Amino acid sequence: MASGIQEPALPYVTTPQTTPTHHSNNNNDSVVYNGNRASLISAVPAVVATIAKIANGHGVGGGGGAVGEHTALIVPSGNKLRHLPRRSPVNIEFSDVTYSVKEPGCRKRGFKTILKGISGKIRSGDLTAIMGPSGAGKSTLMNILAGYKTRALSGHININGQERDLRSFRKMSCYIMQDDQLLPHLTVMEAMMISAQLKMDEDLSLDYKKSAVLDILETLGLMECSGTYTERLSGGQRKRLAIAQELVNNPPVMFFDEPTSGLDSSSCFQCVSLLKYLTQGGRTIVCTIHQPSAKIFEMFDKLYMMTSGRCIYDGRTSLVVPFLGSYGLKCPPYHNPADYLMEVSSGDYGEDTIDMLVVAIASNAAAIFEEAYKQTCEQAPHTKTGNDQCTCNEKECRCLATRSPKVQNYTLDKVPIFVLPADQAVDGSISITELPNGNVNGDACVVVEVGTSNGTNGHCRADTSLLAQTDDDKSVVAECHSFSTSCLTQFRVLFIRTFKSIMRDTTLTRLRLFSHLAIGVLIGLLYKGLGEDGTKAFFNAGCLFFSMLFIMFTALMPTILTFPMEMGVFVREHLNYWYSLKAYYFAKTMADLPFQIIFPLIYGSIVYWMTSQPPEFHRFALFLAYSVMTALVAQSLGLVVGAGLDLQSAVFLGPVTAIPILLFSGFFVSLKIIPQYLQWLSYLSYVRYSFEGTMLAVYGFNRTAICTDPAVDPSVDLVDQMMADIPMGERCFFHEANEFLEQMGIDSAGLWWVDLLVLCFFFVVLRLIAYLVLRWKVRSYR
Ligand SMILES: Nc1ncnc2c1ncn2[C@@H]1O[C@H](COP(=O)(O)OP(=O)(O)OP(=O)(O)O)[C@@H](O)[C@H]1O
Ligand SMILES: [Mg+2]
Repeated sequence: MASGIQEPALPYVTTPQTTPTHHSNNNNDSVVYNGNRASLISAVPAVVATIAKIANGHGVGGGGGAVGEHTALIVPSGNKLRHLPRRSPVNIEFSDVTYSVKEPGCRKRGFKTILKGISGKIRSGDLTAIMGPSGAGKSTLMNILAGYKTRALSGHININGQERDLRSFRKMSCYIMQDDQLLPHLTVMEAMMISAQLKMDEDLSLDYKKSAVLDILETLGLMECSGTYTERLSGGQRKRLAIAQELVNNPPVMFFDEPTSGLDSSSCFQCVSLLKYLTQGGRTIVCTIHQPSAKIFEMFDKLYMMTSGRCIYDGRTSLVVPFLGSYGLKCPPYHNPADYLMEVSSGDYGEDTIDMLVVAIASNAAAIFEEAYKQTCEQAPHTKTGNDQCTCNEKECRCLATRSPKVQNYTLDKVPIFVLPADQAVDGSISITELPNGNVNGDACVVVEVGTSNGTNGHCRADTSLLAQTDDDKSVVAECHSFSTSCLTQFRVLFIRTFKSIMRDTTLTRLRLFSHLAIGVLIGLLYKGLGEDGTKAFFNAGCLFFSMLFIMFTALMPTILTFPMEMGVFVREHLNYWYSLKAYYFAKTMADLPFQIIFPLIYGSIVYWMTSQPPEFHRFALFLAYSVMTALVAQSLGLVVGAGLDLQSAVFLGPVTAIPILLFSGFFVSLKIIPQYLQWLSYLSYVRYSFEGTMLAVYGFNRTAICTDPAVDPSVDLVDQMMADIPMGERCFFHEANEFLEQMGIDSAGLWWVDLLVLCFFFVVLRLIAYLVLRWKVRSYR
């Protein structure tokens, strides 16, 4: 990348070189099965510098082709993503995970078990796929592993051999969901910079962050659309942006739910190529995926195959076909193994087959098979298998395990010994016999026997490297307890982002401005001059009430409409540990505030003067104050409804909740004649206080009677006017403005500031409730 990156406080990564082979700690001994069992090949792929294609605009989703038949990757060249600090490996092990949900019934509530005591391991440096038919529980497992779901869960999830600490784990991992939730009114560059400012170390300079962002954008082929609003991005670009945003702080663990859904085959390939490349930097990457093509399927190192909440395969992707073959499930020639697997997992070969595989996997058969297979295919003495030096003969295989220091430390009472006749390694079922001895020069040695019996030994554990734990690994867990940035920085960045988004939301913000102007002028024209005309006092009260009604709805409805949509972005970012709920909520509230104040001020100013309300400053100021407070309270109510409900329910419930609020406002029915047992409801109606307040502002403060029509003599009693058949609208109600207030059920001796205070109280309480609802909502995701 052209822009030089200053030396950061963080350690530089030595990202995979142009043609990397192994990362020293990657355990990258994967093999790729190319259709012929005899020709398993070492498949640590040669990383080719074809990122030029991405940077040239073809992008990860832009149609680059495969370089080799199986292992061609469209990946960054050696100096790409060089800002990413290297992280220690993170290995995940889960055991006996069971997850149930409540099922609503008529009376009794039953439980539905979605995950049924499944176990597995996910290793750093492996690209792991979770596959299975729809409804198998892939997303559920992913949510659980990522720490999004924690309730109604049993079993253990260990990180580097230690019980998972959720806070730490969430900090070191990220979860990119199927539907890429992005704020629509930010450009790609802005979205990336916000992510960098929130996720990268605060001490790093802005220039450094910018360089890092440019590096990632270039690598992911997003440079050409760096100035495009995210709402205009294509599906593939959105997906890449979602990945890019999470990459800025180089999380060691990344979860992807259906990263390829909605992408064309070329984009799929390039998306998975990118993930493959990222794993080679030592990351732990897990994806759920639906029926991939054979080419994409082969790019995954590990496969976790599920059906109905159970696991039917957990092992190397390249070995799944021979593994199934060993159970008599032969993948037809020229058949996509992924398709075949889906057929098996969907029960096309019988439920018995599934049950058999479930039992086999629970007995660790795939791991044992892997060891067996590896060794039988390398019968020649002094051959090298992956990272392990193995010397094999017909009866046993001696391995100098170099994969990880931990393996070397294992003694044979921990690692079972098996004996394997090489010629029967694959075909036929595996029989495993634990042998009592066999420590070979102090090194762990795995020897497997395959016989004719079909039993498996549930205690076998051929793969011990997962549990290897170095001091570095522990430090990964320890280093992640807080957000990358302070609360103040989170607030500042989020405030600017929210403010920008509101300003750019032309359809909403400009529409709101226009509607306040237009309706203000319309009301002004309709009620022109009525404020000073005592004979039109009832109509004027209608004008004041309608004004509060209008302000209430224009504040309530946009919030109800937009907040549920924004919730998705918030939940993703918050759960990916970008910022705290407090910072988000405070920033949102503050950024919204100027708009919630300005719009009612514009509307109120137009209406007040056009309708000739009393030209006294204190009345005008009070009228505006009530208008603003009404908007703020209504918006707060909108936040509560929007945060707590989905869009459809919120859109329905929003206006419905407004009905009792309006009914008990004192305009339609005088507060004095409302039945006693319903009176309490009027105290909950915040419009009651707005209406009362504006009436007091206009008719309070000992206002004298003003009847401008010379034909009407204000000294004549109102009853006499009625008797004299003076039509409504011409009768002078205003001998005393107080009388009119009393007639409207408003206590003329009422204190104007009480209404203002109550509205402030409503505002604070509703904001607090909205915060609590939001917190509950975030927790309910788990
Ligand atoms: N909260 C819930 N209440 C009831 N059932 C649920 C709930 N969440 C998930 N399920 C059920 O659990 C099963 C697994 O769901 P999950 O979303 O994990 O499937 P999946 O394998 O990801 O499917 P797909 O490939 O279609 O995305 C489904 O049958 C689903 O209906
Ligand atoms: Mg799913």
